Amino acid sequence: MAAGFQAVMDKLKIIGQRALHGTVQASGAKNAALPLMAAALLTAEPVLLHNTPQLMDVRTLSKLLRSLGAQVEQQGDALRIDAAAVDHYEASYDLVKTMRASVLVLGPLLARFGQARVSLPGGCAIGARPVDQHIKGLQALGADIVVEHGYIVARVATPSGRLRGAHITTDMVTVTGTENLMMAAALAEGETLIDNAAREPEVVDLACLLRRMGAQIRGEGTSQIRITGVPRLRGATHRIIPDRIEVGTFLCAALATRGDVTVQGADPAHQDALLDKLREAGAQITTGDDWIRLRADALPAGRPRAVSVRTTEYPGFATDMQAQFMAVNCIADGAARITETIFENRFMHVQELVRLGAQIDIDGHTCVVRGVPQLSGANVMATDLRASAGLVVAALAAEGQTLIDRIYHLDRGYDAMEVKLRALGADIERIKTSPGA
Ligand code: UD1
Repeated sequence: MAAGFQAVMDKLKIIGQRALHGTVQASGAKNAALPLMAAALLTAEPVLLHNTPQLMDVRTLSKLLRSLGAQVEQQGDALRIDAAAVDHYEASYDLVKTMRASVLVLGPLLARFGQARVSLPGGCAIGARPVDQHIKGLQALGADIVVEHGYIVARVATPSGRLRGAHITTDMVTVTGTENLMMAAALAEGETLIDNAAREPEVVDLACLLRRMGAQIRGEGTSQIRITGVPRLRGATHRIIPDRIEVGTFLCAALATRGDVTVQGADPAHQDALLDKLREAGAQITTGDDWIRLRADALPAGRPRAVSVRTTEYPGFATDMQAQFMAVNCIADGAARITETIFENRFMHVQELVRLGAQIDIDGHTCVVRGVPQLSGANVMATDLRASAGLVVAALAAEGQTLIDRIYHLDRGYDAMEVKLRALGADIERIKTSPGA
């Protein structure tokens, strides 16, 4: 906890209006790394993950896996997980409340060991975010589940002691829900069909690792995933896909500062919805196999054009890019509507952007952003992970100094963000405040 507590105190100081220029390397995807790490629980043989991002959520899940009895070793961007000696089956409230993706251990523990006890995540800054679909799906696979004392207590109730395949249709598209069910079904008896499955690239990446481990999966990347369970899975080596949200954040920062940035190690095929919107805003985009270049140093009006977006499941515009894209709209020419359809309370950054001089009206799930020629630096507070990234984009474009407090939210999901931005020419500095100061 010491490192976490230290990070709680850190702030980011940004002096804005420096155009970003140059090349930056994308890290591996946080939202792929977490399910892939959880999948290592499905086998007694080691799983080796390359391109692992170095960030707090990965450290939190490593800690959780160790508390279950797994060995987790990180060397650079390689993470080796050996779950041979796992003999605990509980994810405590202390861990789950800091990172709700901890619920991803539920499916694998249940499938391999026949039992799991995982804390309910509780509320979070961006809304209620229940896990009822994870529970319902696992029940359909034969698990006996009760919720008591704030914990999901699950046991396999079938005569063979293994989960059994089932046809599951989730009530809504859920990313970690789909992943939990895929992992559980991989070791179940018989065939599982997941309908209304999430199509995110991170789900596809998980299917890719599971297949390397010996799982039989078809249909990943579509809304119908078919899994034929096998009695056991083996170890595997896998390279994590690029973090499309980190990539998108750099592209928004480049556009907001009217810069010229190339992001290396990206997968343009995962960014279609965002790239379309960035082009609409006036950016020149070029792509190669593993890079994306955004040029905004010669915008016709000297400013991006206002562009409306509506967040939806993949392949639509990602909710995790909403705050950063709103920041671009804050300094755009014209007015845009930003509609959030995935989470109920994901406009916490709006009042902070207003402190920077943005003109934004909220009406339920929609914001109307009227672009202003210039934002002005101020002291602001990060409220959740992607909201923090939105504030960074806005601060980079603003005139004068912005101090962003509570950047532990940012550290949860971005690998060395200020170091990467500084290399692109940003005036950005982490202010470390010692605990108790
Ligand atoms: C994942 C991502 C997160 C992203 C989100 C939406 C990870 C680790 N996190 O979160 O960054 O913002 O997808 O793209 O991959 N819901 C229920 N019941 C459930 C499950 C979900 O009601 O059992 C609702 C949620 O409250 C939300 C919607 O479904 O309104 C989508 O949530 P979901 O896709 O599950 O988000 P996460 O997997 O938690």
